[in-house]
Amino acid sequence: MTVEKPPLLRVNGLSVTFRAPGKVITAAENVSFEVQQGQIAALVGESGSGKSVTALSILGLLDYPGAVAQGEIWLDEVNLRACSPRELRRLRGREMGVIFQDPMNALNPVRSIGAQMIETIRLHRRVSWAEAKALAIVQLARVGLPDPAALMTRYAFQISGGMCQRVMIALALVSGPRLLIADEPTTALDMIVQARILRELDRIRRENGLGILLITHDWGVVAELADIVHVMKAGRIVESGSVFQIFENPEHPYTRELLNSR
Ligand SMILES: Nc1ncnc2c1ncn2[C@@H]1O[C@H](COP(=O)(O)OP(=O)(O)O)[C@@H](O)[C@H]1O
Ligand SMILES: [Mg+2]
Repeated sequence: MTVEKPPLLRVNGLSVTFRAPGKVITAAENVSFEVQQGQIAALVGESGSGKSVTALSILGLLDYPGAVAQGEIWLDEVNLRACSPRELRRLRGREMGVIFQDPMNALNPVRSIGAQMIETIRLHRRVSWAEAKALAIVQLARVGLPDPAALMTRYAFQISGGMCQRVMIALALVSGPRLLIADEPTTALDMIVQARILRELDRIRRENGLGILLITHDWGVVAELADIVHVMKAGRIVESGSVFQIFENPEHPYTRELLNSR
């Protein structure tokens, strides 16, 4: 007998609206999908299709004038929409990690990489400064960064964009989240660095059984990494399927159009 495993993340009927003077913009409409443990689910669609607002809704980071108007968001057995801002902040470190497109701006420019790593670790774990430092070095090494001890003393402006993005991944993973949300994580990087980072993500997901929601408009990234694809257009998911299905037999005209334009 097979026992159906509940999904790690379940988004059901999510709608997001932005209030502007005299009108309401619907940025996401009736969006539903799941991410299983150990799975990489890609959210694909052109710019402005609602990918980031979907991610921000899950993370509880959607800012005014945006708001979740409808729908359910469950992380395992936790109803994220019923969580207080404080609970969400705690979950964001501990259960959900996030990496955004622009690592240079996400890192604090006036604090060393090490200080930021140690602070993040101690925010989520009761460990001494020295223990946190040791954990930080281990985590930086795990995302493929060479000479992590020396890197700890560096500042964001002293390292490359690719290294910054690896530091961001290390920061996102340091508290052992079960879900990673990666919003166009390699868009700002050159092809070679991009490929290396994607391979790291794939390895990390296999080693840690992490579920990843991967937001991208790059079909190459999807082909390389994703298990499941959800195609978004104008706030709606128009087609979902396995990577094979979507590439071999796209059903929605928009999916075909997107695939042809790559
Ligand atoms: N701050 C905002 N104010 C008003 N509308 C917004 C704002 N942010 C996003 N939107 C609306 O949400 C839509 C989806 O945005 P977004 O999720 O960022 O797209 P994507 O990440 O797919 O490029 C936009 O096309 C826009 O209509
Ligand atoms: Mg976006």
